Amino acid sequence: MTIDSGTEHIRLSSRDAILHIQMNRPEKKNAITLAMYQTMADAILGADKDNAIRVILLTGTTDCFTSGNDLMDFMNVQIEAGVKPHHPFLSVISQAEKPIVAVVSGTAIVIGTTMLLHCDLVYAGTKARFQLPFVNLGLCPELASSLLLPRLIGYQRAAELLLLGEAFGAETAREFGLVNAVYPEESLFESALQKARQLAAQPPASLRITKALMKRPIASAVSKTIDEELELFIERLKSPEAQEAFLAFMERRKPDYSRFK
Ligand code: COA
Repeated sequence: MTIDSGTEHIRLSSRDAILHIQMNRPEKKNAITLAMYQTMADAILGADKDNAIRVILLTGTTDCFTSGNDLMDFMNVQIEAGVKPHHPFLSVISQAEKPIVAVVSGTAIVIGTTMLLHCDLVYAGTKARFQLPFVNLGLCPELASSLLLPRLIGYQRAAELLLLGEAFGAETAREFGLVNAVYPEESLFESALQKARQLAAQPPASLRITKALMKRPIASAVSKTIDEELELFIERLKSPEAQEAFLAFMERRKPDYSRFK
């Protein structure tokens, strides 16, 4: 049985014990608004509580995973003291009990890359492009990427990705261990779905316990880092450096950081 729900920009469908969460805003490169973050957080939490769901499959659209936070949303949102705009999603994806399989086609920028660090299996199409341009945007890392990325790929390589914000392709992501396998775009979804089905056929409690055991050694450090990064990230959003980056994006020009100290 297939159950379809969700919102305009997040499609949810469940079938054969797999909840498919699809970011579906292709006209804006699947940029994630605060409403989309909330829908995804609710869907993951719901899946964790629903015995009928054993695996979460997370995708974007055919040529784009996501271009990250919606920049307009982030510019416009009045962040009141103490309010952490997309915090529910960050904590929920990092603490999800059920396995998450991510399918990356095309662009996966900023949180499009960092959320993969919290997924269990990640499959990419040959044209996938990853990038972590936090610094380039006057921001700082989020979703515990400042902790998890150096652990995964080593400090110097992480510094190249986080300080320079250099983009990298699917094969490099596989070599880094960020991606399990790279498939031709035409067969990507089916190949990933096959893995999701394999997971869904495993004994569910054993699956959950094993995931929890693998995550447990650094779970509290991850959670603490998410909070600490977010405090700084919110400060950075309001900074003149980030405002210049957002304005430059809207005006389709290169940002000019020469006046900043
Ligand atoms: N937030 C809001 N809108 C975004 C967006 C984002 N993160 N990413 C893309 N869009 C919008 C563009 O403004 C454009 O809208 P328009 O058609 O109304 O002008 C549309 O999506 C298509 O994007 P465009 O830049 O024309 O596509 P592209 O193929 O040339 O480039 C990207 C794709 C993803 C490389 C480029 O859009 C980009 O760099 N986006 C910003 C990514 C980013 O900095 N995210 C960080 C958020 S913290």
